[in-house]
Amino acid sequence: MLKISYLSHSCFLLDDGKIKLIIDPFLTGNPNATAQAGDIKVDYIVLTHAHSDHLGDAIPISKANNALIIAVNELANYVASEGCIAHNMHIGGGRDFDFGRLQFTQALHGSVNNSGDYMGSPAGVIINMGGKTIYHAGDTGLFYDMKMLGEINKIDIAMLPIGDNFTMGIDDAVYAVEFLNPKLAVPMHYNTFGVIKADPKKFKSKVEAKGKQCKVFEYGETCEF
Ligand code: NI
Ligand code: MN
Repeated sequence: MLKISYLSHSCFLLDDGKIKLIIDPFLTGNPNATAQAGDIKVDYIVLTHAHSDHLGDAIPISKANNALIIAVNELANYVASEGCIAHNMHIGGGRDFDFGRLQFTQALHGSVNNSGDYMGSPAGVIINMGGKTIYHAGDTGLFYDMKMLGEINKIDIAMLPIGDNFTMGIDDAVYAVEFLNPKLAVPMHYNTFGVIKADPKKFKSKVEAKGKQCKVFEYGETCEF
């Protein structure tokens, strides 16, 4: 069993009934956030990259919960230097945690923190938890190796950016769904800012036209899989 809550933008909370893990906890300053950083109770924080709309509230949430931050080496070192506990990984590397296996994948994007310091490669992440395989693409443009990720992994749920401008737009994200072949596609990274305005229902109908399934989460919605 895996419960997934969508806290808006690229932030998802995964809960297998024992362990809670949050991805890219951007809440403070996020106009669509349905929770405040102080209310988040988690065991793990997974970061795809250091941009402020992904690193977000990770540092205060980590400190308040004694939650381990899992990130690529450079970003993990940065959050550790800010007083958080962190586990350093890198693209292509996987590790078995007590919730399941986690592996970082490539993402075509950038990664600096608010000071402009280089924070290593941006990433996507594949997480096995609660009997499900989740792929969170992070911020990325479309890349053909998504086909390989879909061949190596039986992906249950693929969380894909659709907001365009900084990442894939709707049409490229539909190609991503075809490459990844997940049981369910979930759009993210849209409508938080004017420049990433996109209609998730349009994405859903285009995905369904390809014979694939899509779920558009409401902000704050929790779904059990
Ligand atoms: Ni970004
Ligand atoms: Mn972003």
